Amino acid sequence: MLNVHGLKLEIEDPVDRPSPQKRCIMDEHNLDRRSFLRGLAGAAVMAAGLSEASAEEPPATTIKAGQNTVTSDIQKYRGLIGALRGFSATIIREHLALLERYRQKFSEVESSNRTIDLASANPLSCRWRDHVMAWVELRNSVRLHELYFDALTPKSVKPDQKIAKALQESYGSFDQWWIKFRATALAVRAWGVLAWDNQVRRPVIFGLDNDSEWPVGLDPLLVVDMAEHAYVLDFIGQPIAYLDAWLARVNWLVVESRLVSASEK
Ligand SMILES: [Fe+2]
Repeated sequence: MLNVHGLKLEIEDPVDRPSPQKRCIMDEHNLDRRSFLRGLAGAAVMAAGLSEASAEEPPATTIKAGQNTVTSDIQKYRGLIGALRGFSATIIREHLALLERYRQKFSEVESSNRTIDLASANPLSCRWRDHVMAWVELRNSVRLHELYFDALTPKSVKPDQKIAKALQESYGSFDQWWIKFRATALAVRAWGVLAWDNQVRRPVIFGLDNDSEWPVGLDPLLVVDMAEHAYVLDFIGQPIAYLDAWLARVNWLVVESRLVSASEK
């Protein structure tokens, strides 16, 4: 059983059956959330080389996943560990470990697609359905987490140029944008999102309860992870405080770059 931001997925893995220990790690619902994070991080931190001791090591991690070999670039985020005001090193390190686990599982799912019997495909229950659902869910989960971590910075970076103008024009002011964005994030269980809609040539705000819901045709500009694993260790019962701390660490230069790319399509 794989749980990706709240969605439980049955994944058959013909290449590498999970060991009892791995099964325990994957079965989030058999553990309280803190134990889940600790257990998950314990395995994935070692795989990703994200322990504090290894933070000084060169970023050359290679991970076996099924029959595939994928090169991890999680190390590019190691500068965020312990460097984001308001966020403990533990929560960032464990969240990155979770991302690594998603990447590993996505690689396993991709490598398994040649071994599944397509003749039995049906929309109720079959291994191919599990594979199709898992592919979308895990791919989005990896990409959404990359968008989240790519736009975090230890420095203070204010919105400027095109993104500041776009938010002003669409929402009246940055503060009005933030009120709507924050309310949207608080109303969902997975992701609060600012995206660019090229059809109407303006930014839009929406939210996701799970990773497979991404609306067609929208380009992500900024995402905030509203799953409890993203904040509960540091902000238990305080999602608004989490969002305020996150906003202060957003790298708006990254958001600006995403807007330029999206709007020039
Ligand atoms: Fe997350």
